[in-house]
Amino acid sequence: MEEGRESWGTRVGFILAAVGSAVGLGNIWRFPYLTAKNGGAGFVFFYIFLLILIGIPVMIAEFILGRSSRRSPVQALSQAGENNWGGLGYLFVLTGFGILSYYSVVAGWAIKYTLDALGGILMQSDPQKYFESINTGGEAVFYHLLFMAVTTGIVLSGVKKGIERSVKLLIPLLVVLIAGLAIWAFSQPGSLAGYAFYLSPDFDVFINTYQVNIFGLSEFSLTFLNLSLLASAAGQTFFTLSLGMGAMITYSSYLSSDEDLIHESMIISFSNFGISFLSGLMIFPIIKAFNLSEAISESTLGTLFITIPKAFQQLGNFYWSSALSFIFFVCLMLAALTSAVSLLEVVTSTLMDEINVKRKPAAAGSGLAIFLAGIPAAISMKWLAKADQIAGHFLLMLGGFLMAIYVGWIMKGAFKELKKGLKTEEAILPWTILIRYIVPPALLALLCTFTWEISLELWALIGG
Ligand code: TRP
Repeated sequence: MEEGRESWGTRVGFILAAVGSAVGLGNIWRFPYLTAKNGGAGFVFFYIFLLILIGIPVMIAEFILGRSSRRSPVQALSQAGENNWGGLGYLFVLTGFGILSYYSVVAGWAIKYTLDALGGILMQSDPQKYFESINTGGEAVFYHLLFMAVTTGIVLSGVKKGIERSVKLLIPLLVVLIAGLAIWAFSQPGSLAGYAFYLSPDFDVFINTYQVNIFGLSEFSLTFLNLSLLASAAGQTFFTLSLGMGAMITYSSYLSSDEDLIHESMIISFSNFGISFLSGLMIFPIIKAFNLSEAISESTLGTLFITIPKAFQQLGNFYWSSALSFIFFVCLMLAALTSAVSLLEVVTSTLMDEINVKRKPAAAGSGLAIFLAGIPAAISMKWLAKADQIAGHFLLMLGGFLMAIYVGWIMKGAFKELKKGLKTEEAILPWTILIRYIVPPALLALLCTFTWEISLELWALIGG
């Protein structure tokens, strides 16, 4: 390894950091919500299918890029071949910048909730009104600033001392807390109904059926795959695994050559899935026990922030309710923190590599810029939702699509890099097939679906 480049202290440190990046708001809030909305257990199976078909292969591609170049995304992409792919690296940095700017606002809400749960205010307020009073405006900006400051503090302290040390503490704590809440939820009277609501499969959501009537003469029905559902599931796969914007490239650039990249990517992906699944086991019994399941089907960003306090309030015991909601929002906060660290690390390490600044000013400068860029999201929920749709879905899939083409078809030495440290060479062939022939066309189809949907929205917006 060349001199001066930082590295992970231990293999476990790297795995925990990658799991910390993956496990975030996407697991506790998005996964259960998408599952409940899209057919329960059917969606869970489909999600695992996408994980294996698209998620794991793309993660391996990112690891190959990062470890072979030992550089942040822009240079990783321009170094690995003679051609001009560095631009894709800039797209990654832009995407990370965009995601963190609104992600931090949502994480800021979690800080506010945690403090008010502790102070007893949360359990005395009407959840809907409370959420509306804090989600935008001065307080939202303030907690967004606070969250960015903590995130910057960790990234500033470096790979080993900042990132690795914090995830080694935070990830085990997070798992214990979520598991604890899930066990408590299991003991609640309505828990079985909650599991049933969460997991009973409904496969009809995967297809759309249209009735076609030809001049009143004959009528028949046409059945299509529900592409929009598939696109949102694929978007979730990218978002939850932190793929498509170079976070995994950056983390693996601090890695040594004796790791088995395929093995590590499976450990990371399935740990991430396990925590998502566990979050569902925690959330649904709580919500169902208090008959609040209708609330989850309203597709607002605030579902979790309104429904969970409502459910805890109905427990009827002020101290218990406050304590449980405190633990819940601490989980959300911790999960968001270790993810935000990975997003900021991409921007920071790019500055370090590209214009040769030291870590401290690079982290502080990027943190400040992202705070400023996030102010609109802290003022308007509409902005926040749009930023999530564009940076958190579309750009990730676009980045993943281009990266699959690059690593699968263009990059020199990709296979050689993958072989280093690999325990089972038989795994190379399936990966090659997936990254070359399955991932690009699948993502292309979903990108088209997405573009189509966004155009329709724009069309409606300009009054078409
Ligand atoms: N994976 C995180 C979540 O589920 C969010 C996240 C962190 C992310 N780093 C990322 C998403 C990089 C996309 C790309 O909440």
